[in-house]
Formats: sequence, structure tokens, C-alpha cells
Amino acid sequence: MKRIPNTPIYCTANAVKSLKGQYQADWDFHVVKTGDSLPVGNGKELVFVEMAMIHWPDSMATYLTGDNILFSNDAFGQHYAASGLFNDEVDRSILLYEAMKYYANILSPLSDLIRRKLDEIAAMNLPIDVIATSHGILWRDNPAQIIEKYSQWCRAYRENQITIVYDTMWNGTRHLAEAIAEGILSADKDVVVKIYNISKSDQNDVLTEVFRSKAVLAGSPTHARGVLHSMAGFLYLVKDMKFKGKYAAAFGCHGWSGEGVGILNAMLDDAGFTRLGDGLKALWSPDDEARRKAFDFGAKFARDCAAAETAGA
Ligand SMILES: Cc1cc2nc3c(=O)[nH]c(=O)nc-3n(C[C@H](O)[C@H](O)[C@H](O)COP(=O)(O)O)c2cc1C
Repeated sequence: MKRIPNTPIYCTANAVKSLKGQYQADWDFHVVKTGDSLPVGNGKELVFVEMAMIHWPDSMATYLTGDNILFSNDAFGQHYAASGLFNDEVDRSILLYEAMKYYANILSPLSDLIRRKLDEIAAMNLPIDVIATSHGILWRDNPAQIIEKYSQWCRAYRENQITIVYDTMWNGTRHLAEAIAEGILSADKDVVVKIYNISKSDQNDVLTEVFRSKAVLAGSPTHARGVLHSMAGFLYLVKDMKFKGKYAAAFGCHGWSGEGVGILNAMLDDAGFTRLGDGLKALWSPDDEARRKAFDFGAKFARDCAAAETAGA
């Protein structure tokens, strides 16, 4: 804008505030609202659809008639750079994973808004040949596929997966995690089980796994009458995502006072999970007996999840 200061900017009223706030500049703003249009030549028009809080106050989608391109702003995007620009030019499974990761980490808390906005855009009945998101790969091969994914993701999404997230100082809590995973699989051979040490994993990848799970098991040893800060920080992040319809339980080792599991329970409740039971505690490094209890705890958790799902269905 320094080089082209007289170029008009068509944007929402909120975008004027954001741009003035960020750049302290008074440019040639033209405020537009949902349904407004702007002729751009050759009989084509830009049609605007405000998308406040998806995911910034100023967000807006723009539709180009004639070429049928939906410039979708943050929706349908990914934090992903590849050598190809369009979805038929990149690895499909990586692209879908990155799109889910973006949704899980950025858009999850806005799922109710997104559901209403998808309905609004569907009601406009626009032919869409390309979805050009503001970052990531553009969707031109069957762009409806990512709209369909969003309509699943914004409805308390979950797959048949249980994710175990833990941290440990001396590996005791890790051994509990592994025994719990075996127990789950002994009771339910179809469920996908994934285990992550949160201090050795990408937090945003693990958050994506939580998003796609029906249940989560959180583990930490007791440390200074609390839990390890890596788990506390991760559960704080999980809470912000406002996931819905997921089950949870806690586990961990301790040496004497053993507050860890109770603290994890409270954090899981606070993050909106439906907690199944009071969790599993083991003293010091788990011996064979403690590992067998962890196995049984995992098997019971898998059965309780299945029963709760049946009761809720
Ligand atoms: C720095 C430190 C602080 C600890 N603080 C507590 C505590 O406050 N209460 C308690 O019950 N155990 C405490 N423990 C004991 C651990 O919880 C216990 O050794 C546990 O088995 C460790 O589990 P891990 O093998 O998963 O790291 C502490 C251990 C360490 C190393």
C-alpha cells in the first residue's frame, strides 16, 4: 500500500478497524457487506459474504461470478506449503491431514458459527469451480469435498480412536500408558489407539489426534504436588479448542502425596470431557501387579466408552 497508496480497499467495517490498528494508515477504504457486489469487467462481479469471527472479526469470503471462484479467506485452508498450488497437484492424504490439523487447531472453537455459515453459503446455491483459500493449497478438483469435510468436522467430530497423551520423568507413567493401550486393544480390536509423549511430540499434531478421537487418556506423574507443566499446558490448549462429545480419564505414578491424577481429572472436566471414572494411580515405578492393573484399567475404559456411546446413540 505504500507503493500504491491510492488503490481502493474493499473490506468489512471490522477490517477498517483492524487495518488502521495494525498499520496506522488511512487508506481508501470502501466498506462492503454480505450480498454487496462489485463489477470487475467482462460481465463478472465480486460478491461478498461476511464471515465475522471465522476466524477474525474482519473475515470475509468473496465470490467471483463467471469463473465461479470462492475466495474463502481462512476457511478450507491449511498451514501447508507444497510445490503444487492445486489439490490435484499434491499428495491427497497429506493435504487432508493438514486441512484437518488447521481445523482442529484454529477453527474448532468456532464450530457452531461455521455450521451456520456453511448453511448460509449452501443456501446461496453458487456453482463453485475453485475454492481459493488465503493460505495453503487451492481446491479445484472436486472442491465440494472440503465443504463436506467441514460439515463433518463442525458437528462434534470423532473417529473410532482413543488417544493416550502423557509425560514422565522416569518412564513409570509411560509404562502405565503402554499397558493401558494393550488393555484397550484386548477389549476392542477395532479401535485405533495412539500414544504420545507430549514433551517429545508436536503439540499441534497431538491436538489434531485429540480432535479426531472419541476419547482421551491423560497421564502425568505427581510433581511438586502438581502435574508436569507440559501436560498442564497441553490440557490448557485442549480446553481452548472447546471439543465436544469426547470421553476421558487420567492416570499417573506418584511417590507419596499423589495429587497428580486428581488435578488431571479437574483439568479434563474443565476442558469439557465426559470423564469415565476417577482414574488410575500407581506408586513409584509400576511393578507387574501395577502393570496388570493398568491393563485392566485400559480394558474397562474401552468397554465403558463403547457402553457410553451406545447409551448416547
Ligand atoms: C522433582 C520430583 C518431584 C516429585 N514430587 C512429588 C510429589 O509432590 N508428590 C508425590 O507423590 N510424588 C512426587 N514425586 C515422585 C514421583 O511422582 C514418582 O517418582 C513417580 O513414580 C515418577 O513417575 P514417572 O516415572 O512417570 O516420572 C516427585 C519426583 C520428582 C523427581
